[in-house]
Amino acid sequence: MPHKGFTLWFTGLSGAGKSTLANRLAQEFRQREYKVELLDGDEVRTHLSKGLGFSKEDRDTNVRRIGYVARLLSRNGVIAITAAISPYRDTRNEVRREHREFVEVYAEAPIEKLAERDVKGLYKKALAGEVKNFSGISDPYEPPLNAEVVVQTDRESVDESLDRILTYLEEKGFIDAEAPVAAGGY
Ligand code: ADX
Repeated sequence: MPHKGFTLWFTGLSGAGKSTLANRLAQEFRQREYKVELLDGDEVRTHLSKGLGFSKEDRDTNVRRIGYVARLLSRNGVIAITAAISPYRDTRNEVRREHREFVEVYAEAPIEKLAERDVKGLYKKALAGEVKNFSGISDPYEPPLNAEVVVQTDRESVDESLDRILTYLEEKGFIDAEAPVAAGGY
């Protein structure tokens, strides 16, 4: 069991890999029998933040709500993983200040690459002006200046990024180091 809960806060542009990494981490923590909850941007917007749009005010409300729930969970021994764009630095830092244990992970990838891959087809629409206020295209995204971990998702495999996050958490004592798998064996 983990000695303490904490919030693992992903930030990054749409399509940068936040949800993928968050899901894989949640899986990994469950396997280690840690208590974990995932607050994914897209899912949160179907209930907790239903009806909110993408103005600065609505995004800030969304992010503050996610931060509030993550704080309740993490102070009760749960690992709360969040995966919303959370584009505004000040609002992320506000959420950070409300936490005792907070790890910010920046999923970084050049926007040209994200627009090229365009998993949800939204970049094309944003570039054509069909989706307004799209983060990184027609709306701000303020990258963190002091994220605890930066993963370069266009250059690293999912496993590499995961490893780097887990290593950070182990080194800082957020989670126990996995016992090394014995080499050889019989
Ligand atoms: S946040 O800014 O409030 O943190 P959140 O992560 O919840 O954003 O939602 C982002 C997701 O909503 C994107 O991955 C995308 O699928 C969708 N989306 C729809 N419209 C926009 C937009 N204008 N800007 C960014 N994402 C949008």
